[in-house]
Formats: sequence, structure tokens, C-alpha cells
Amino acid sequence: MTTSDHPSIDIVILAAGKGTRMKSALPKVLHSIAGRPLLQHVIDTAQLLNDAEIIVVTGHGSDQVKSVIVGDSLAFVEQTEQLGTAHAVLQAAPVLRSNSITLILYGDVPLISQSTMENMVAVAERGQVGLLTVTMDNPTGYGRIIRNSSGDVEAIVEQKDANEDQLLVNEVNTGVLALPSDLLNDWLPQIGNNNAQQEYYLTDIISIARHAGVAINTVQPGYPEEVEGVNNRLQLAALERAYQRQQADQLMTAGVTLADPHRIDVRGSLITGTDIFIDVNAVFEGNVSLGSNVVIGPNCHIMNSKIGAGVEIKSNSVIENAVIESHCDVGPFARLRPGTHLSEGSKVGNFVETKNTILGRGSKINHLSYVGDAEVGEKANIGAGTITCNYDGVNKHKTIIGDEAFIGSNSSLVAPVFVGKGTTVGAGSTINKDVPDAQLGIGRAKQVNIDNWQRPTKSPK
Ligand code: UD1
Ligand code: CA
Repeated sequence: MTTSDHPSIDIVILAAGKGTRMKSALPKVLHSIAGRPLLQHVIDTAQLLNDAEIIVVTGHGSDQVKSVIVGDSLAFVEQTEQLGTAHAVLQAAPVLRSNSITLILYGDVPLISQSTMENMVAVAERGQVGLLTVTMDNPTGYGRIIRNSSGDVEAIVEQKDANEDQLLVNEVNTGVLALPSDLLNDWLPQIGNNNAQQEYYLTDIISIARHAGVAINTVQPGYPEEVEGVNNRLQLAALERAYQRQQADQLMTAGVTLADPHRIDVRGSLITGTDIFIDVNAVFEGNVSLGSNVVIGPNCHIMNSKIGAGVEIKSNSVIENAVIESHCDVGPFARLRPGTHLSEGSKVGNFVETKNTILGRGSKINHLSYVGDAEVGEKANIGAGTITCNYDGVNKHKTIIGDEAFIGSNSSLVAPVFVGKGTTVGAGSTINKDVPDAQLGIGRAKQVNIDNWQRPTKSPK
């Protein structure tokens, strides 16, 4: 079969539930794992399937959900009253394409994988019903998979409708289903609500398929967390850990050494070279890339940044929207704010804050400084306690420092100001006039020494 012979896929994601047990004003499906809403995880994975259209069934917090969730080929339908899973799917029925496959997923089951989705679709492509099941030690609460003596699936019975024998079955329904859309459209209207919960059960599809002589084939997920749902914050935390552990495993497989795979969080995309070492408690957010041989010390927070080969980020550094070229040294306790660009081999040390600053090759800001809205040339040395006074209370101004400049400790550079190539600035200076190339700029009160100075003495009581 060529790909063009494959039917298109309509993915229906149920996300109408309230999520009472989250005890939250936020709709359940908008709670996050790795900084991304649960529902967004499902959509992002679903979009990896070929020719898929995605229909999200919203209900509680519908407007909020629609304003947050994004994706291509994405449509929303509303289920105003939650009358059951079959009723939820029915809301999407009018937009299902004929001759397509429908795959039903859940906005609160975030970690389902692309391969499981594909395995499910493959069953439906054969004209059968694909049902995703798992075996559980404690199946309480789940719909039980009822098989006949030849092992074929006959029905799903919900916990509340099950008899004693059925309750002993530990193969359960995950809720994920795939089948030809035309069959689904024929069968949905046949589902009633004559059951313990007076709900329209999607699971009734199975006995209907059975009666129609359509085969039901079960598929199992690759790993158990794929089908775990989030109903409360304990389950949310458990899935967060499972997800983070997966990412840690991928990093290690790709050539990254982690001091502790349980103590790294990746909230976004982390692209890595090889022979990287990451110490404990690193948090990565957004799009971060690390070149080969990067070393990251304990407790670093790195957001949307590009870090070149051989860079060492020492402990407790915070880096946001920055570019760090190869072989730079950062931290400990450095804060690189947005717009920081460290050129090759430069150095930013402890208790230094930078913002919107280009630091030239081999230049150093080693201690206790604020350098903002600045351009620093190559091989310059910015002494401890240097401050660029970039803000006059209304506007921001620029400081330009030339190659090989030496800024003495505790200097204030009042922007806009230009400090030329090869200049020296005397320690403790307030520089508010440009310093031409190769000159010494010094702007501080002259020292006076007083001879025969008597220290004050304590007066007797
Ligand atoms: C459902 C299955 C059960 C399965 C279990 C797995 C049915 C009848 N039962 O039971 O066999 O073992 O999932 O977790 O399908 N939803 C809507 N609109 C509704 C009802 C539900 O959007 O009207 C959504 C909910 O938000 C939730 C999901 O569908 O995300 C499942 O609904 P829920 O009522 O929790 O079904 P279960 O009782 O867990
Ligand atoms: Ca449920």
C-alpha cells in the first residue's frame, strides 16, 4: 500500500469534564506537565500522525480551553451537558469525514504515544474496531473487558454495572478506541443510557460491533503511563515524574551524563551534543541547545538559550534568552538576562547580572557587576562592582567599551557613554564623559590624608 491509499484520520479528544478532584479554578485539561497543558500534549502527539484532523470536545471552561490550546487542523465542538462518553463523541460526529478512521483520545490522558496511536489506527484500517486495553493488579473503577471462551472481546462492562465474576477481570478499558468513522456514525445513535449511571456509554460500541459481526482487536500500550489519566494533583505529579524520567533517559541515550536522572526537569525542547555533564537540579525551559562538552553545575535554570561547545555553567546560574558561544565560563551565581551574548572564551563570574549586552571574545566580568545595554569589545576586563547606569528613570542608554579596556573596580559608567579601546578607568570612578582610546579616565574625589588625627575617645561616666 502506498501512503495515499491510507484513509485520513479524525482524532476526537474528549475534554469536557470538570475535574472536580483537582480542586482548581483551571479546567483540568489545562493543568500542565512539563509546562505544557495536558490537552496540548495529546494534540502535539496526535499531530504527528499523517493526514490527521483533530476535534476537541470541550465543555467545562470551554472558552478558556479554546484560548490556550493551539494546533494545526484543530477544531472545537462543545458538549454543553456531560451525558456520557458516547454523547461526547456524538458532538463530533457531524464533522467526521466519510471513509476516515476515527481515533478517540482523552484530554486528561496526556502521555499516549505516537506508536500506540498508529497501532490503533492500523486495526481500524482493516475495517475492525481497535480497543486499547491494559491489565491491572487493581482494576477498581475501570470498565472490564469481557471475552468469550475463544478469547474474543464481547463487551465492556463498567464497574457500576458489573457482576461479581466480571469484577474479577483485570483486563480493563483505557477508553481509547479506533474504528472506521462510517461505522461509528451508524452505531452512536444506537447507544442508550439504560445503565447504573444513566449515561451514554461509548463502551457500548463494543457489543454493537460484536452483533454487527465486526471484529474487535485489542492493542496494548508500550508502557503503562501512556494510558494513565489525571484526576487529581497526585496523579499529575506522578505523570510529571514519569515524563521527566523519559526525557532524562533520552538525554542519557544521546550521550549526556546526568548526575541524577531524577533531578533534571526539561520543560520544552533540549537539543544536545555529546559528552555533556549535567549536575543535579537543572531546569530547562523553552528551546535550549547545549553544544558538546558543556558542563552544567548544580541548581541552574536555563531558558530559551543557545550554549556553545565546551562552555561551563557553574552552580546556581540563571540564564534566559541568551547566546553563549563556545568555551565561555559562567557563574557560579550568574544571572544572564535576555539579550545577553557572550562571545567565544568570555567569562561572567559570580553575582554578575547582564542584560542586552554583547561581551567580546575573551572579555571578563568576574565579580559583582551589573552590565546592561552594553557592547564590550574583545579582551576587556570589567572590575568587580562595575555598574552600567543605563536607566535615567525614563529611557535606557547604551554603554560602549572598547577592546582591551580595563575598568577599575567599583566604577559607575553613566550611559550613554563611550569608553575607548585600551583605556583604563580608575577604580571607584563615576564616568559620565567619554574616555578616548588609550587614555586613563578617572572621576573620583581626591584623597586627603590628615596628619596627627585623634580618634574620638569615650567620655568617662
Ligand atoms: C471511562 C470508560 C471506562 C474506562 C475508563 C478509563 C465509559 C463509559 N467508560 O470511564 O470503561 O475504563 O474511562 O479511564 O466510557 N467525558 C466527556 N463528556 C462526558 C463524559 C466524559 O468529555 O459526557 C470525558 C471526561 O472528561 C473524561 C473522559 O471523558 O476525560 C472519561 O469520562 P469518565 O466519566 O471519567 O469515564 P470513566 O467513568 O472513567
Ligand atoms: Ca475517568
